[in-house]
Amino acid sequence: MDNSNEYLLNFKGFNFNKKLVNTEELEKMEDIEIRDDDVFLITYPKSGTIWVRYILFLIYFEGERNSNGNLQTFDTIPFLEYNIMDQDYVKMPSPRIFTSHLPYYLVPKGLKSKKAKILYIYRNPKDVLISYFYFSNWLLTMESTDIIEHFLEKFLDGKVAGSCWFDHIRGWYEHRHDFSIMFLSYEDMKKDLRGSVLKICSFLEKELSEEDVNAIVRQATFQNMKSNPRENYDQSINTKIGTKHNEGSFLRKGATGDWKNHLTVDQNERFDMIFKRNMKNFPLKFIWDIKE
Ligand code: PPS
Repeated sequence: MDNSNEYLLNFKGFNFNKKLVNTEELEKMEDIEIRDDDVFLITYPKSGTIWVRYILFLIYFEGERNSNGNLQTFDTIPFLEYNIMDQDYVKMPSPRIFTSHLPYYLVPKGLKSKKAKILYIYRNPKDVLISYFYFSNWLLTMESTDIIEHFLEKFLDGKVAGSCWFDHIRGWYEHRHDFSIMFLSYEDMKKDLRGSVLKICSFLEKELSEEDVNAIVRQATFQNMKSNPRENYDQSINTKIGTKHNEGSFLRKGATGDWKNHLTVDQNERFDMIFKRNMKNFPLKFIWDIKE
């Protein structure tokens, strides 16, 4: 396997952010013991991970629902494969909640027991592409390019951390019967945040009062997260990972359809052609414009 790329580490056919993982830890990951009440939030990068992580944080940690709690989302819900806080997962209290970008075939084997629950969040890949383009240009540990065409090539070839978007979502969907998994789209959350929080609660068998649901919805809006220094990640990304410049923002636009402001007609047509070829007969619906 060619691992000469400065930014990507390929492990068992999947690309990781090289500067944030080590192979030894990846080797051990498949054998991490799974508890019945573990929850996994799984996404392809830039699909709404941090948004849903915050929602899970608010669902599970009651004291955080009115912004005066003292837990940190970052350490309370760690990124399984990017364990930058060096946490001992065995010592984490139950219920443990993890975030991950892993493909279906690299997650801990115990997840196939179907006891622990997996929430898979997906987003239309044109908006993922644009979000990822800006993120790569901002984060210190990622290769940047000023030209969307270059990033588009890499994205379509799967030469980014997270590998190929098509393989990720297809893999998880086609193996859904092996897991206890729910699929939810970023766009559905944008259209109906309250309804989406209720769906998540129902899947996780968490019964919350109307007041609690309202508090979660209020706190998890884009504007509230962006103006909350604990949840906008601008400072923590700067200190924990590092950025190339100060103009970026983790919560950049939070929009659906922003790809229209970036892709040329040719690029868009090419994307559509590749999308059709790869997603033939795929039943999940994608929303490309919030007016749809
Ligand atoms: S990462 O790096 O993979 O963890 O990124 P991820 O969190 O998956 O995706 C980042 C994008 O999600 C947007 N975001 C939100 N959108 C709407 N509402 C809320 N509350 C919210 N929180 C995060 C974030 O702005 C990124 O999208 P873009 O398009 O870049 O703005």
